[in-house]
Amino acid sequence: MAEALQPVRGTRDLLGEDQRRFAHVVDTARRIAALYGFDEWATPVFEDTRVFSRSLGETSDVVSKEMYSFTDRGGDSITLRPEGTAGVCRALVSNGLTQSLPQKVFYAGPMFRYERPQKGRYRQFHQIGLELIGPSEPQADAEVIALGHHILRALGIADQTVLELNTLGDAASRDAWRTALIAHFTVHRDALSEESRQRLERNPLRILDSKDAADRALVGDAPLIDGFLSDAARAHWDGLRAALDRFGVPFRINPRIVRGLDYYSHTAFEFVTEQLGAQGTVLAGGRYDGLVADMGGPATPAIGFAAGIERLSMLLNSPPPPPVPVAVVPVGEVAEAQATAILQAIRSRGLRAEAAYRGNLKRRMERANRIGAVAAVIIGEAEAARGVAQVKDLRTGEQREAAADDVPAVVAALVAA
Ligand code: HAM
Repeated sequence: MAEALQPVRGTRDLLGEDQRRFAHVVDTARRIAALYGFDEWATPVFEDTRVFSRSLGETSDVVSKEMYSFTDRGGDSITLRPEGTAGVCRALVSNGLTQSLPQKVFYAGPMFRYERPQKGRYRQFHQIGLELIGPSEPQADAEVIALGHHILRALGIADQTVLELNTLGDAASRDAWRTALIAHFTVHRDALSEESRQRLERNPLRILDSKDAADRALVGDAPLIDGFLSDAARAHWDGLRAALDRFGVPFRINPRIVRGLDYYSHTAFEFVTEQLGAQGTVLAGGRYDGLVADMGGPATPAIGFAAGIERLSMLLNSPPPPPVPVAVVPVGEVAEAQATAILQAIRSRGLRAEAAYRGNLKRRMERANRIGAVAAVIIGEAEAARGVAQVKDLRTGEQREAAADDVPAVVAALVAA
């Protein structure tokens, strides 16, 4: 026998119930997004590498260590998308929509990052995401966050999460803060982890995010952005919190949230849970006012988020069950033709119906029970000759005869009961 091949490390097969959880998350998010006027876009799974290298930050882990990049047969550098925002901004510009604002975009699909796989962290994972491109008002930030919260509520998992909120200010605020952070951490340079020492000059904000114990001790008294906010950045931050109160979305301020991608300004937020161990961020995003310009468009404000479908699926109690089946049971060859017609008529009515391909009455009835059928439609030769069928309620054992044409209505009543 040939060697049995396995899925690539960090990828997963989603079978049956797992995929049903998954689909429930996507369907729910799509439905709630539509209530807020978001329309769905699908952009390609792979893009010109520059779409990501220009936008996510050369020093971010995603760009420097985690991209699936390759040169294709035509010599172009291609990257499997590690996230969806850059592609949506690229599409906005490519499709000439930069003057048709606002654009309210929903998307769902696979993303790829070469990360160390563990529970809740995969190399091929899936996101639902939303981008609101155009408005710069803090009310827009609050509405997007309220939409994220609405999706979590619709999935029945909002109570397991906390919204953590921060501001990263505008460019002027961030530059001043960055300088102060470099000064603070330079004093303690020798105590920093190797990784944070490397980040010190290039991206000191990310040190605040470090999981290293020694780093964490130094992060405690690092300067906060609050002391460096420009008047405009402070007004946005105050406006956001007031708007979130109006939407009735509870939040906790966490000045340590900096986000792993470099395109953010002003608002940064994460819905986190304690149920998933180390990978506790289920839905995260922020404002990114420079990204459309990075793609060759005009300066355009925008705000959005993405959520890991795998992580949301893990928090779901139970996914919606598959539809209840009706079993169609022909006995003898003559009955087969009539059985097929009835099978299709039941399905045309929008009900699930199944028939086995072989086996005697006993075998087929066993199978009907195994798949959890609520009713069996039994057609023997005598029934076939008279154009009728026996409809058996498998919960009560009651059986009645029905004309072939009436069978779909009779089983529909049993399914609904
Ligand atoms: P992100 O924080 O990199 O942001 O990812 C968003 C979410 O995707 C995470 O909170 C997590 O739930 C999920 N996720 C990320 N990496 C993995 C992984 N390796 N395995 C499983 N789940 C994962 C973004 O991607 C931004 N594009 C969000 C955004 C949209 N910002 C503005 N608009």
